[in-house]
Amino acid sequence: MAYIPLARLHELYDGYRQSIRLAGQELLLVQDEGQVYLFANVCPHRQASLSNASINDGVLRCARHGLQFSLRTGQPLQPGGCNGTLQFFPLIYEGNTIGVEASS
Ligand code: FES
Repeated sequence: MAYIPLARLHELYDGYRQSIRLAGQELLLVQDEGQVYLFANVCPHRQASLSNASINDGVLRCARHGLQFSLRTGQPLQPGGCNGTLQFFPLIYEGNTIGVEASS
């Protein structure tokens, strides 16, 4: 396993957002309410990009159809709106960076 740094800790702030392409997958690294999240840049509803989603108070709102998802659980917040969830990836803090473990 190899550590891949994605951002330096001093670069992060609430509202931070970075698109990342890693191992052929589009990901989003965001910070909201002091918490950093890494998840697939794909809406679980109809697979729209989440690059333009709004993120506030722990809630991500997809720009395509407006469905909302909890950043803490990945679950949709509207009953019946969508059965999928945000796909999170574990983050690792190492030194002054945050990143992921990837198989080499
Ligand atoms: S594609 Fe995101 S809410 Fe429909």
